[in-house]
Amino acid sequence: MTAHLNAAEAAHEKAVKEMFSGIAGRYDLLNHVMSMNIDRLWRRRVRRELQDVLSDPKAVVLDVACGTGDLSIELARGARAQVVGTDFCRPMLSVAAGKISAESMDVPLLEADAMALSFGDESFDAITIAFGLRNLPNHADGLKELYRILKPGGKLVVLECSNPALPGFRQLFDLYFNKVVPRVGGMISGSRGAYTYLPESVSRFPDKKRLARMMEDAGFSQVRFTSLTGGVAAIHVGVRR
Ligand SMILES: C[S@@+](CC[C@H](N)C(=O)[O-])C[C@H]1O[C@@H](n2cnc3c(N)ncnc32)[C@H](O)[C@@H]1O
Repeated sequence: MTAHLNAAEAAHEKAVKEMFSGIAGRYDLLNHVMSMNIDRLWRRRVRRELQDVLSDPKAVVLDVACGTGDLSIELARGARAQVVGTDFCRPMLSVAAGKISAESMDVPLLEADAMALSFGDESFDAITIAFGLRNLPNHADGLKELYRILKPGGKLVVLECSNPALPGFRQLFDLYFNKVVPRVGGMISGSRGAYTYLPESVSRFPDKKRLARMMEDAGFSQVRFTSLTGGVAAIHVGVRR
């Protein structure tokens, strides 16, 4: 487990947990509306990235900050590996549990803080974290914790929002993300704060190259990234040495 959080980090976690508890029931609808359903394609890309390990019946794959379970379900579809989901927000996990049971899937869910997971060192064959790393109070320490519980040779796949680099498209995206998303998100979810937080958290998050360096600093090798949909999201992959 990583060291204890400082006071600011603990306050951040508390606020994030409360925010997701407040929007859990509307999260899926908002996700798909605001990403215009493209998030489904991004999740499929993550599954393709882990195809080998997912077809191994002895492998265990952990989906961290699994929320309402969309990525866990996508990974488990047709997989022979065991997929496990974990998140620290119980209302998000409750939505995930309902969806997993509706799909008659076997995906155990565990309530846990990604900054201090109670798994032993080198426990998992692969780890995913989708739109979760950005929400952690300390990205570098979060990555170190994921590194710790990954088996040597195991892959971490991070799916995260990012900022497009292409001039023109970037301005258009900024307008949508900073003006439209908080308004529409606020109206549908009843929490304007959550959808003001979203663009703010993306602007604070390291850009693609910096995140890659941060993964290397956490110990990962063979780090690479792929921009998705003009750079509004990215998949970063790293391997535990
Ligand atoms: C934007 S949602 C993403 C959910 C899901 N992975 C998806 O792709 O839709 C972020 C999730 O991260 C979780 N989260 C944030 N900080 C966390 C932490 N410190 N430990 C565990 N989960 C955390 C939240 O509870 C929330 O469910």
